[in-house]
Amino acid sequence: MLKKLILLATIIAAGIMLFPSQSTFSSSQDALATFRGNSCVTCHSRSNAQLQVTSRYAEWHMSVHREKGVGCEKCHGGDATAQEQAKAHAGVLAVNAPNSRLHPKNLTQTCGTCHQEIANTFTESKHFQNLKSAGLGPSCSTCHEHMASNVIYTPEQTSTLCASCHDSTNALMPKRPEIPGRAAEVMQSIRRANMVVMWADRLVDDAHIKKVDITAEEKEMNAVRTMRADAKISWHAFNLDVARKKADATFEEGTKVKDALRKKLYPNQ
Ligand code: HEC
Ligand code: HEC
Ligand code: HEC
Ligand code: HEC
Ligand code: HEC
Repeated sequence: MLKKLILLATIIAAGIMLFPSQSTFSSSQDALATFRGNSCVTCHSRSNAQLQVTSRYAEWHMSVHREKGVGCEKCHGGDATAQEQAKAHAGVLAVNAPNSRLHPKNLTQTCGTCHQEIANTFTESKHFQNLKSAGLGPSCSTCHEHMASNVIYTPEQTSTLCASCHDSTNALMPKRPEIPGRAAEVMQSIRRANMVVMWADRLVDDAHIKKVDITAEEKEMNAVRTMRADAKISWHAFNLDVARKKADATFEEGTKVKDALRKKLYPNQ
């Protein structure tokens, strides 16, 4: 009996370590607990409106933004304290209205209230300059879709997106046929960096459970995480060479930490 209890406790503890974000939203807590009193969320979560509107709610519900307490009004505007639909919607404009907070030209500013560094590097890119002047160029939601529940992520999706302008037969488009292939490589490099960071994070969790001292490795992991964030910032400047270098370096340094952790925890493997 005692053995079983200990085993159970270990499994639960391991679960909490491995899935920290899920544990904060355990089944005993309503997924919308943070949004009590937010009329946009309260009404839309119960709404049975047309597909185009309810599907957006569904995307938000599954997004990091819901997890982190970012309500509809933070991006769409409107009054989240008003109960009546018309009052709440005051200031919520259609996305294609030129002064909508979510119009492609204004998105950088809206998203930038929270993602300042990324928005700033993006603003300095030629893409943004062209978006402002000619309306031609990708904006945040081109890749992150509605409220970042998704991201253009596979190397194939990425090169297809870049090719739609940079390797187009349309003479008005900026033809740079080498860009799609290079962008796909940067994405492969970012993905492998993500993988190794995730792997190392799991090992760090294992070490905590086994009570192995990994102070040095944890410090190195923080440095690796900073490198990865930098790589992603350079990506948003479309600085492909720099982003590639930083993502490669993240992978290399992350691999060193990962291997050191494996050696400490599982010396016989
Ligand atoms: C009392 C219910 C209710 C509240 C409160 C509410 N909405 Fe809506 N919303 C709806 C319904 C229903 C629709 C579907 C369109 C319609 O029937 O007018 C909708 C449509 C929308 C749309 C689609 C564009 C449009 O205008 O058709 C957006 C965007 C939106 N709501 C955002 C918000 C935001 C942001 C808030 C809070 C500031 C909010 N809503 C508060 C019920 C509500
Ligand atoms: C992180 C920012 C963000 C949050 C939070 C967010 N949205 Fe959006 N939403 C967007 C962006 C950007 C677009 C336009 C881009 C697109 O269509 O993918 C959009 C588009 C929409 C549309 C289509 C509107 C149109 O005019 O075509 C609806 C409906 C909508 N959102 C509803 C909601 C509701 C309801 C919530 C809260 C439950 C919400 N959104 C939360 C960023 C956000
Ligand atoms: C009110 C603040 C706020 C606004 C506005 C906002 N975000 Fe976020 N976003 C967050 C927080 C908090 C996170 C969680 C990660 C973090 O802390 O950086 C996040 C995470 C993300 C992520 C990472 C998703 C992942 O899976 O890790 C992306 C991509 C993102 N946001 C894009 C956007 C885009 C695009 C917009 C504008 C349409 C936007 N955000 C607007 C607060 C915001
Ligand atoms: C050309 C596509 C593209 C565009 C345009 C784009 N992003 Fe991203 N974004 C990505 C990719 C790819 C990642 C990395 C995803 C990953 O590794 O999980 C990312 C990551 C992010 C992250 C998470 C960063 C981190 O360190 O984890 C945020 C926040 C973000 N983007 C916000 C934005 C905002 C705000 C805009 C507009 C100013 C924007 N993005 C425009 C493709 C794009
Ligand atoms: C909607 C069209 C569009 C898409 C999609 C697009 N671009 Fe661009 N891109 C442009 C325009 C317009 C310019 C500006 C060209 C100029 O002014 O010389 C540009 C410029 C660039 C430049 C700068 C070139 C230089 O000479 O400085 C790079 C790099 C770039 N894009 C990379 C990318 C990558 C990577 C992707 C895919 C993730 C992408 N682009 C997707 C339209 C687009």
